[in-house]
Amino acid sequence: MSPRLDANPDLIAAAARRVMARCDELARVSAAADAIERVYLSAEHARVNRLAAEWMREVGMSARQDAAGNQLGRLDPAGDDGRDAPAIMLGSHLDTVPDAGRYDGIVGVLMALEVVRLLRVPGDEGDWRSPFGFAIEVVAFSDEEGTRFGKALLGSSAVAGIWDDDWWALTDAEGTTVREAFLDFGLDPGRLSEAARRPGELVGYLEAHIEQGPLLDRRGESLAVVSSIASARRFQLHIEGEARHAGGTPYDMRRDALLGASEAALAIERICRGEHHIIGTVGQLEAFPGAVNIVPGDARLSVDLRGEFDGERDRVWEAISRELDEITGRRRLRWSSREVHSAPAVFCAPLLQDVIREGIVSTLGSGAQAPATIFSPAGHDGMAIGAITGVGMLFLRNPDGISHHPDEAVSTDDVALGIRALAESVLHLAAEPV
Ligand code: GLV
Ligand code: MN
Ligand code: MN
Repeated sequence: MSPRLDANPDLIAAAARRVMARCDELARVSAAADAIERVYLSAEHARVNRLAAEWMREVGMSARQDAAGNQLGRLDPAGDDGRDAPAIMLGSHLDTVPDAGRYDGIVGVLMALEVVRLLRVPGDEGDWRSPFGFAIEVVAFSDEEGTRFGKALLGSSAVAGIWDDDWWALTDAEGTTVREAFLDFGLDPGRLSEAARRPGELVGYLEAHIEQGPLLDRRGESLAVVSSIASARRFQLHIEGEARHAGGTPYDMRRDALLGASEAALAIERICRGEHHIIGTVGQLEAFPGAVNIVPGDARLSVDLRGEFDGERDRVWEAISRELDEITGRRRLRWSSREVHSAPAVFCAPLLQDVIREGIVSTLGSGAQAPATIFSPAGHDGMAIGAITGVGMLFLRNPDGISHHPDEAVSTDDVALGIRALAESVLHLAAEPV
């Protein structure tokens, strides 16, 4: 007989309302007056960690900030050796892109806290305990987006113990390095390795997240199982030409870097659209010196490539590179690139996909349509955490699929279903033979 959550639907509805209210509360913690922006190692990051710590303690967890600025809560199982028990880690991230929505990452952290509230059992000393043989941890990762330093997943990479020393020298728009930002935030770069977890400490990592795409909305369904998280590469391209007078320079003498970059952006779209599994985006494009009466002598653009499989992604980058050779050769320009992010595809652990599927079925009832299993073109902390433990993800319907935008949304009803499904998933996991 499968385990079933014994919870009053009113309690779950109240939990979902609390999640939505807290998403609103966190949205007010922003560096921008009229938009949401919360980047790694900022004053806003410190404030949301303090709030998350308060909410972790409120559900009975111990709370701590780790050596990379991730906020963690933990609920031990009963017994004297509970402190050493491995943990199922639930959570997501609290940092945002510029002009963000209020749910990307955030809703997953807050839902995890409600799962703890539903599953916890009273301990012997007026405390709360995990009802399982394993502990429950909630993590609020600190840098999933990479908004500040260009490199994504810094917080979860530190937890996975895959920190690259070159990252200390990455700079933000003000020229502050990661090392300086650590010190300003009150973290000791020399102790970073203390954030790393050993595989034996974790039973797995489960994350609930809005879909950030329209598939569930189009299917009219609330929840889905994630099969894998996209493989990604990001580049900064530099195209060099020659700056000259906009009036006096005839067309045959121009070496216009912006036109080369514009052709490159269109070529990237054409090449990626031809490859069904690769998505390419130019999200930044700047021309220099940037005057109305000067032919642009330099252009800088970003390229974000995602795909289900690393090999296809790499093949597309080679095709883009050949096209850049052709465009810049024809226009007498030069191009160079710097790779700023690279992450292999991460396949969700079959067992964790199964328990999430069972969690959804237990929530929606076996008469409901079988839950969809979808690939995530959006990046997630599981891409880093997958190096040390199995990853499972639950997607929530995202109306109109709009995300990385202030109109990003999720319904309270879907959050309620998601909380229940995540709690049921943990129950299914606990019922698995070890
Ligand atoms: C993160 O949201 C990403 O996929 O870029
Ligand atoms: Mn995001
Ligand atoms: Mn996210």
